[in-house]
Amino acid sequence: MVDMVKPAFRAAIVGAGYMGALHARVLAEAGFAELALVVDPSPAAATLAGQHGAEHAPSLDGLVGRTDIDAVVVAAPDRLHAEIAIALLDDGKSVLLEKPIAHTGAAAQAVVEAAERSGGRLLVGHTVRFDPRYVDLAQAVADGELGQCVHVTAGRLTHAALGRRVGAMTNTALHLGIHDIDAIQWIAQDPIARVHAVRADGGLTGGAAPEDATFCTVELASAGVGHLFFGWSRPDDWPNPIDSRFEFNGTAGVGRVVSHDDGGMVYTTRPRYLEAVYGRVTNGVVTGAHYETLRHFFTALTTDAPFVVEPESAAAAVRVCDAIARSLETGQPETVSHGGNT
Ligand SMILES: NC(=O)c1ccc[n+]([C@@H]2O[C@H](COP(=O)([O-])OP(=O)(O)OC[C@H]3O[C@@H](n4cnc5c(N)ncnc54)[C@H](O)[C@@H]3O)[C@@H](O)[C@H]2O)c1
Repeated sequence: MVDMVKPAFRAAIVGAGYMGALHARVLAEAGFAELALVVDPSPAAATLAGQHGAEHAPSLDGLVGRTDIDAVVVAAPDRLHAEIAIALLDDGKSVLLEKPIAHTGAAAQAVVEAAERSGGRLLVGHTVRFDPRYVDLAQAVADGELGQCVHVTAGRLTHAALGRRVGAMTNTALHLGIHDIDAIQWIAQDPIARVHAVRADGGLTGGAAPEDATFCTVELASAGVGHLFFGWSRPDDWPNPIDSRFEFNGTAGVGRVVSHDDGGMVYTTRPRYLEAVYGRVTNGVVTGAHYETLRHFFTALTTDAPFVVEPESAAAAVRVCDAIARSLETGQPETVSHGGNT
C-alpha cells in the first residue's frame, strides 16, 4: 500500500454500483489516486462517497468542466458508456471506461474519435487482458508456439441474478461475450469476420434481459473457425460468479484457460469456489485483475506508456456484437463490418 505518499491524481468515479464501489475500494487501498468525486444518481452513491471522503454529484454536470479532477473511472450501465466517455474525453479527462466501449459499433467509433481528439487518454477495462492466464496464452500464440489457428472456443456463464440486475441496459453479448470476443481477436491476432448466432431464453431473468444465453459460430478473417457462448443461465447459488473457458487449437499445439474452480473450494451446504483472479482479496486487500487494471491505468498515465487495450480493439469487439445482434434478427450468418461504423 502506498499510504504515505500523496497520490498524483485526483479521480472521479461515474457509476457507483458493484464495479464502481470495487474501484473506489482499490483506489483507497492502493493509493493510485485520491477519490475526489462520485457521480451517480442513486442515493447509495452519496453514502459511498461519504465513506471515501469524496463529494457526490447526481449527474455529469457536477464533473464536466472541473479542472481539479484529471482521471475518471466510468462504471455506469453499458448503454450509457459512449455518451459519458465522449463528454469526459471532450473535457480533456483521462478515462478508464468499463467494457464495452459502447453499445453499438457506430457509438464505439464515436468514442474512438473522441479519444483521438482529446487531451486525455482512454483505457477500456477489458479485464481478461489483466488475467495472467490469458496474457500468457496470448504471448504463446504471438511467439508462434501454437502455430496457426485451426479453431477457437471462448465463453462464460454467470448467475441469472446478474441478468435480472443489468439486463435492461445491455444483452449477453455486450455484457459478457465482449470479454470472449475481445479475447479471440486479441489472442488469435485475427478479427472475427462472420458470425452466426442463436439464443436461448428459458425465462431465467423473468424478462429483465433480452435472452438467457447466446451461442455463436465464428469465422476468423485469415484462418480458423470457432464458437462463442455466453449467458446468465447459471442458478444464483452456482458456486462461482464466472465459469469461463478459452481454448485455442493451433497447427502446433493447444492453449487453454478454464476458470471453472480456480483450484480452491469451500464445501458446505453452500459450496463455493475460491476467487483467485478477478475480485481476489488477499489479507483484506483487493489484489486481482481489477486491481491490475487500475494499476495499469494510473501507471501508464504517469509514465506515458501505451495502454495494453487500444480503443480501436475495444471497438472491434463491439462491431462483432452488432453482427451477432443482426444474426439473431435475421437467423442468418452476418458479416462483421470492421471498416468502421456499422
Ligand atoms: N470488467 C469487468 O470484469 C466488469 C465486471 C462487472 C461489471 N463491469 C461493467 O461495469 C459497469 C457497471 O456494472 P455494475 O455491475 O457495477 O452495474 P450496477 O448496476 O451495479 O451499477 C451501475 C451504477 O451506475 C449508476 N448509474 C445509472 N445511470 C447513471 C448515470 N447516468 N450516471 C452515473 N451513474 C449512473 C447506477 O445508479 C448504478 O449505481 C458495466 O458497464 C459493466 O459492464 C465490468
